[in-house]
Amino acid sequence: MQNYKDVLAEILIDPETLQARVKELGAQISADYPDGDLLLICILRGGVPFMVDLSRSITSPHKMDFMAVSSYGVGARESTGSARVTLDLQMDIRGQQVLLVEDIVDSGHTIASVLNMLHTRQPKSLKVCALLDKPERREANVTIDYLGFTIPNKFVFGYGLDLDEYHRNLNFVGVVDLEKYKPSN
Ligand code: IMP
Ligand code: MG
Repeated sequence: MQNYKDVLAEILIDPETLQARVKELGAQISADYPDGDLLLICILRGGVPFMVDLSRSITSPHKMDFMAVSSYGVGARESTGSARVTLDLQMDIRGQQVLLVEDIVDSGHTIASVLNMLHTRQPKSLKVCALLDKPERREANVTIDYLGFTIPNKFVFGYGLDLDEYHRNLNFVGVVDLEKYKPSN
């Protein structure tokens, strides 16, 4: 994999702006769930850095669980329409106030499938917190209850978002320069 500097077209959201917005979201969520009855569900793997920072800025007691879904074919960057659960939750969400934490809502298929599936387990409430929204690409109708940033229709990476599984660790969100990026397979 190339160094991120060799494939970065521009920094879209810098670390300070990201952290400030995450703190705001944390404060809002703390106010909305003041009684310590909250389960954060991180959608692996893209939601991890966001979930960690968000969780640390939520002042009310909360639990965490994790799930993984796959919506993209190997090497593909387009959503196929429905998501398959590849790692299920450990916890029973029945009767719980659940907040799904996701890196980005693009076509919306991933989050829509996860919401459908989790609804059948009868949580007390089920809401969505997404760091990024790419509304131009939306195909499925989803409500984002807590949103970090609306972004243009560009392929981005960093802060959880991957470029073929790399660069999730970056503390900013950057736009990929698709002319410089050389996929390794
Ligand atoms: P959707 O099902 O099309 O909404 O896709 C959502 C998933 O696609 C996200 O959880 C991301 O993992 C991935 N994704 C969408 N857009 C990007 C991007 O610009 N960079 C990296 N991953 C992306
Ligand atoms: Mg992904």
